[in-house]
Amino acid sequence: MCGIVGYIGSQQAYPILIEGLKRLEYRGYDSAGVALQNGKIHVYKKRGKVVELENFVGDAGVNATVGMGHTRWATHGEPSDLNSHPHSSRSGKFALIHNGIIENYAVLKEKLSRHGYTFESATDTEVLVQLIDFFSNEGAHNAEEAVRLALHEVVGAYGIVVMASDEPDQLIVARKGSPIVLGIGEGEYIVASDAAPIIAYTKDVIYLEEEGMAILRKDGYEIKTIGNIPRTPLLERIEMELETIEKGGYDYFMLKEIMEQPRSIAESIRGRVNKDNGVVWLGGLVDVQDRLRNARRVIFVACGTSWHAGLVAEYLFEDFARIPVEVEYASEFRYRNPIIYPDDVVIAISQSGETADTLAAIQLAKEAGALVMGVVNVVGSSIARGTEAGVYIHAGPEIGVASTKAFTSQVTVLTLMAVYIAQLRGTATPEMRSAMKELLNVPALVEKILESNDYIHSIAEEFRDATNFLYLGRGLNFPVALEGALKLKEISYIHAEGYPAAEMKHGPIALIDANMPVMFIATKDESYDKIVSNLQEVVTRGGRVIAVVSEGDTNIRDLAEFVIEVPQTNPLLTPLLTVIPQQLLSYHIAMMRGCDVDQPRNLAKSVTVE
Ligand code: AGP
Ligand code: GLU
Repeated sequence: MCGIVGYIGSQQAYPILIEGLKRLEYRGYDSAGVALQNGKIHVYKKRGKVVELENFVGDAGVNATVGMGHTRWATHGEPSDLNSHPHSSRSGKFALIHNGIIENYAVLKEKLSRHGYTFESATDTEVLVQLIDFFSNEGAHNAEEAVRLALHEVVGAYGIVVMASDEPDQLIVARKGSPIVLGIGEGEYIVASDAAPIIAYTKDVIYLEEEGMAILRKDGYEIKTIGNIPRTPLLERIEMELETIEKGGYDYFMLKEIMEQPRSIAESIRGRVNKDNGVVWLGGLVDVQDRLRNARRVIFVACGTSWHAGLVAEYLFEDFARIPVEVEYASEFRYRNPIIYPDDVVIAISQSGETADTLAAIQLAKEAGALVMGVVNVVGSSIARGTEAGVYIHAGPEIGVASTKAFTSQVTVLTLMAVYIAQLRGTATPEMRSAMKELLNVPALVEKILESNDYIHSIAEEFRDATNFLYLGRGLNFPVALEGALKLKEISYIHAEGYPAAEMKHGPIALIDANMPVMFIATKDESYDKIVSNLQEVVTRGGRVIAVVSEGDTNIRDLAEFVIEVPQTNPLLTPLLTVIPQQLLSYHIAMMRGCDVDQPRNLAKSVTVE
């Protein structure tokens, strides 16, 4: 997600835009840019943070009382001056800033190319501003109509602000799937991705509705749908403070990022699953289809939470694509003098795309001639640029050091990749296609689990003073057990270990007593009966058990002290659900212990050192 801001009124726009962009930088800071309108549209844009833009503009900023600004979190086209927003149309008549993803940008780009359009950037956004220009040339009555005609061709998500050089005293705003807030001041209006840039000027706002449009002028504003139906604006008053707004109303980024997983998982899926037949399409792998089809083996290299996502992928890739898989700690792989074959596929999983050990591991793989791919969140990051192909997870910026939404987006993308490769290798089945259709429903299931937040808070009260924790799971829930243990230890500083539940008998069960709480992840799957036995072994030895179970499970309810239900779903998708209670439990315990959940001691968001 990125940050957008616009101003129209009687004040100088530039300082208002810059201040607003700085308040939106937590939404992304790959690049920043402004467009200023004073009869001509002047665009200034630069890779890097807002301060880089400020230094670039210096004193050159023109006098203008209409303008807009953008701080980017790249999804299509790596961070660069050219890929920065605002994007201008070929004619120079339009400028546009955009938050979201134009899913069908390739098709639209092809259509515009046939009409002689050329493109200077690699972004999806530039296609939209050229499309507006196209409709303007095709006879749209005004800029508003050209925008509306263009938006009707768009598939995807957008929050946009558009300026037209021949209609200087207006901002055209529209949204579908990305937030837009309008600040209603005295003879001035401010539009932004959220209220942070607005509350310094007014607390009266309009939250633009889905598929809504606004035309802001110096003498007033109109609210309508993108279908040109007038709407009565609902004016609201903001009471929140700035700091709270930046965290989306939550106390910490970690909780915000846990809560936004229905949206981030949906973004990871967006445009990649045919909702009618469950067929998966991954544009980033098209050029390496043959090598994937003929691959001998897949090796995942990653660290921490990303390594846990790789463990989930191991089950899915072997089950779906019938290809041998290894999951390696990057830090071990790089020094082990591993055997890597040219027909191996080495996949780096990394939220930041900057982890030193993972970077070194893919370097090794490249030297051995293997196909090296990335599953990365940050577009244009070192790992993204250092791999031959890959799939971005589109989770949006993850600010909290403890990874939450990146994990579920990694697992989502790896699930899609497993099916995509199965499709290539001829091992795809109707069951997989139905699982993909069920995947489309996972955001709603996650939303339901998040409703257990208060109940999980009450469980955290019981265990806030624990000194040790065991996390147990089997099959696809074993990596979730490891992830749950990592979450707890890295933000609450309680020692926690994850284990395959069956391993208990081979030693760890000696640890069981009333002071060793045990989290069982025991949803209904083929190993359910076995894990119930493991759970009984713990209970009979006086262990205190928290169990994550499938909705309606009464069997374990009679055994465990606390039971957290997750909706029934395809067992292949359970990690996306069973990890949510782990995230919330660790968050609440850490909060009760007075820990800084966003910046835990000794940790960094990206480990760029070895
Ligand atoms: C997870 O909560 C931790 N922040 C850490 O283990 C992290 O997953 C690891 O450092 C890997 O980071 P990456 O995904 O950016 O490569
Ligand atoms: N998809 C657009 C780009 O990559 C906008 C990304 C965003 O919302 O930050 O430039």
